[in-house]
Amino acid sequence: MPHSIAPTSSSLDYWPPWPLFNAQKAENRPENVNIKQEIIQRYGEEGIRRSWLQTCATLEQVTAEIEAKKTAMIPALTLDELLNASEEKKQALRSLGCFVVRGVVPRNEATQWYWDLKGYVNENRDHITGFPEPSPYMFNVYHSPAQQAGRSHPNSLAVQRALLQLWHDDDDLSKSFAEPLSYADAFRIRAPKSDGVFTLPPHIDGGSLSRWADKTYSSTYSAIFSGNPEKHDPYDLTVRKNARSALFPGTASSVLRAFQGWTALTECGPKEGSLLLYPNLHVASAYMLLRPFFDPPENDEELLDAEKWTFNAQSEWFPGTFTAKPQMLSPNCHPHLKLEKCMIDIPRMFPGDTVWWHADMIHAVEQKHEGEYDSSVMYIAATPSTSGNISYIKEQLRSFENGLPPSDFMQGTNETVFKGYLGEAGIMNGEAGRRAAGFGL
Ligand SMILES: [Fe+2]
Repeated sequence: MPHSIAPTSSSLDYWPPWPLFNAQKAENRPENVNIKQEIIQRYGEEGIRRSWLQTCATLEQVTAEIEAKKTAMIPALTLDELLNASEEKKQALRSLGCFVVRGVVPRNEATQWYWDLKGYVNENRDHITGFPEPSPYMFNVYHSPAQQAGRSHPNSLAVQRALLQLWHDDDDLSKSFAEPLSYADAFRIRAPKSDGVFTLPPHIDGGSLSRWADKTYSSTYSAIFSGNPEKHDPYDLTVRKNARSALFPGTASSVLRAFQGWTALTECGPKEGSLLLYPNLHVASAYMLLRPFFDPPENDEELLDAEKWTFNAQSEWFPGTFTAKPQMLSPNCHPHLKLEKCMIDIPRMFPGDTVWWHADMIHAVEQKHEGEYDSSVMYIAATPSTSGNISYIKEQLRSFENGLPPSDFMQGTNETVFKGYLGEAGIMNGEAGRRAAGFGL
C-alpha cells in the first residue's frame, strides 16, 4: 500500500547557488519606512520586540527537530485517512501545515494524464510557450483536458473540500467557503538532468510587501506584531479573506489559495526535481514577518543571539522582499531559520499522490533532477469560495469562454485552437466540477 512506504531521511546535501539578499541590492522605496512605521504605531515596538525574542528562541527547538527528523517531519496519509480524520488528527495537520495525501487519483488515471499532456504538448508545440525557452517544462497551458480532469476529479474536489474545512471564518460558521474553486494553473514536465535551469529558491507565495503594506493583510498577523505570536491562527479567514495579496503588480496570485498543492503524474523522489518544504508554519512565518524590523549585530559570531539584534524603525529594507515577486528568503537574511538544513525534501511521490502546504509556508523546488525519468506535476490548489476568489473565478470563466488565458497568467494563449482541446466538455464530475470552474456562481 502506498501509505506504508517509510519516509526517507534525506534532505539537501548541497545548497544551490540561490540568491542572497542584502540592503544594497534591495528594492528600497522611501515609502517602505512608512509601511514599517504604520505597523509600529498600530502594535507598538514592545510587542514586536517581544515576539522577535520569543520567535527566535522557539526556532532553536523547531530547527533542531527538523534537522533531526528531516523528511520524516512530513506526514503521508491516504485519501480515506484524510476524509475520516479525527479532530485530533486534523489539529495535527493544521499545526504542521504540510502533508502528503496519497492515492487521491488512481495511479493509472494519473499516469494517463501524464501521457495525455505529453501528447498535447507535442501536438500543439507551435502554439505552446513555457519556461525556460527554448525547451520549456513549465507550460503556459491552463485548460487542457488532463488539467480540467485533474482539477474536477471527484477525489480531487473531495480533498480540496476537506482541506478547506481545516480553516474557519467567524462570518461563515456553516463553512460555505469550503466549497472549492478550480484555480486554473500550469503543469510541469521536467526532464532528468535538467539541472540549474529551473530553480525556485525558498519563498512564500501570496504576495510579498503586501503582507505589511495592506492593512487588512497585516491585521491577519496582529498576534505576531503585538507580542503574542503563539496566538496567531493561520487558519482564520475572518480577516484574511479581504486581504489584498496582489496589492502590487507582479506575480502574486489574485486568489487566496488556502493550501497550495500539486498532484504527481509521475514517480518522483528526493533529488529528482521535487519539492522542498520548510516544515513549520507558525514560527517560520512569524520570523519572516518580524525580520524587517531588526538589524543584525556587527559581530557575526553573535548572529544567532536575538538579543543582540537592534530594532530599526527607519530602514527601508524588507529582506528578500520585491514587490513584483513572492516573498523570498535566504540564509544570510534569515539566519535563525537555518534554511540550508531545514528545507526538507518531501517523501517520494507516485502518480496520483498529492502534496499540500499552507499559504504561508516556505517552499522551494530542487535545483537538480538526478533521476532517470520525467518529473511531472499539475498544480492544483485548495481555493476557498471567498467573495474575492469567486470574483476571480468568474473572470477566469469569462476568459475561458472567450479563448483567453486566466488573468493571472497572461503569458498564456488562445487554447481553443489547440488540437485535442475540449472546452467545457473536459470538466469532470457534473455540476460539482462545473460549479468549481465558475459556472452558476
Ligand atoms: Fe511557490
